[in-house]
Amino acid sequence: MTSIEQSASTKRVGITGTGSCLPDRVMTNRELESIVETTDEWIQTRTGIRERHIAGPDESTSDMAAQAAFRALESARVDPEHVDAILVATCTPDTIFPNTACAVQEKIGAKSAFCMDLSAACSGFLYGMEVGRGLIASGQCRTVLLIGAEKMSTVVDWQDRTTCVLFGDGAGAVVLQTVEGERGVIASSLGADGSLGNLLGIPGGGSRRPATAESVAERLHFIRMEGNQVFRHAVVCMTEAGRKALEQAHMAPTDVDWVIPHQANMRIVRAIANRAAMPFEKFITNLERVGNLSAASIPVALDEAVRDGRIASGQTVLLVAFGGGFTWGALVLKW
Ligand code: UT7
Repeated sequence: MTSIEQSASTKRVGITGTGSCLPDRVMTNRELESIVETTDEWIQTRTGIRERHIAGPDESTSDMAAQAAFRALESARVDPEHVDAILVATCTPDTIFPNTACAVQEKIGAKSAFCMDLSAACSGFLYGMEVGRGLIASGQCRTVLLIGAEKMSTVVDWQDRTTCVLFGDGAGAVVLQTVEGERGVIASSLGADGSLGNLLGIPGGGSRRPATAESVAERLHFIRMEGNQVFRHAVVCMTEAGRKALEQAHMAPTDVDWVIPHQANMRIVRAIANRAAMPFEKFITNLERVGNLSAASIPVALDEAVRDGRIASGQTVLLVAFGGGFTWGALVLKW
C-alpha cells in the first residue's frame, strides 16, 4: 500500500480541465440478445447496464483519447504545445508498442510532451493521477495531460455472455497543474495484490502466451473473469481504499459531496455506499448508459458531472477504483 501526502507548504496539484469522448454507436441490451443468450432484464437487474457505446472498426483507442484530450485542454485553456507529459491509462492500447500516448501526442500536436502508457486496468486513471501529481510536485512538469481510454469491444469475447454484456468503449481526460488555495488533491491511497491476478485479465498476447494459431483458437486474447470473486474483492477494496484516503485527508464520509466510483456494476456501487454508510445519492453513476469503461470509467463520469454542474467549486470529491491485477485506489480532492 502506498500513499503520497501533500505537505502543507507546497501548492496542491489539481484538475484544471476535463473532457471525454464516447463513440456515436450505441449498443442496447436488446441488441445483445441477438448476439449471445441473454436478456435485457438479466443485464439490467444484475448489473444496472442498459446500453453502451461501441467504437467503429477505424476508431482506435488513441482516436477517442485525442478527442477527450482536445476537450480537456480546451476547458483548461491550455495549448497542446504547453503539455509537458501525456499519460494514457489503458489496457487496450493501439499497439503493444509504440505506446498509445505517443499516438495521442501526434494527433493533438503536443510536441513538447514526453509520453507513456500506464497499465493498471480499471484503476489506471487513479494510478495516473498519482504519477501525474508526482511529476508536477517534483518540479519535472508544469502541465500533465492524463487520459483513461479503452476500446474494450476489441478484447471482450462476443461469444461469452458473462463478460461481453458488461463493457463499453470511451475515453476521459484531465489536465493536471498546480492550483491555488484549498483546491486540488488532498490525499490518496493506492494498493495492489498480484496474487489474485488470475481472476481477471487477458491470458494471451503477452510474452507469456504470445499469439499463435492455438492461442487464437483457445480464445486466449479475450477477457477472462471470475465475476463473483472479482465482485467481492471490488466491494471490500474500494470501500477500504476510500476509508484510508479520507482518514489521510482528516475527513469523515459526511465531508464528501460526491463519490465517483469505478463503474463495473450498480450492485457494487450500492454495496460500497452501504458499507461506507454514505447515501447512494452522493454517488455519480453513468454505468446504465456506458457500461464498464475500465480506465476511462472515472474520467468520463467526472467530465459529465463537471459539465452538467453537479460538481461545483469548493466541493469535496472522492474517487475510488478497482481492477485487474488486482489494483485499487482512492483519491480525495477539493474541486
Ligand atoms: O472492472 C473490473 C472489475 N469488474 C467487476 O467488478 C465485475 C464484477 N462482477 C460482476 O459484476 C458480476 O459478478 C457479474 C455481472 C459479472 C455476474 O453477476 P452475478 O450476479 O455474479 O452472476 P453469476 O456469475 O453468479 O451468474 C448467475 C447466473 C449463471 O447461471 P447459472 O449457473 O446460475 O445457471 C450465469 O451463467 O447467470 C448466468 N449469466 C447470464 N445469464 C444471462 C451470466 N451472464 C449472463 C448473461 N445473461 N449475460
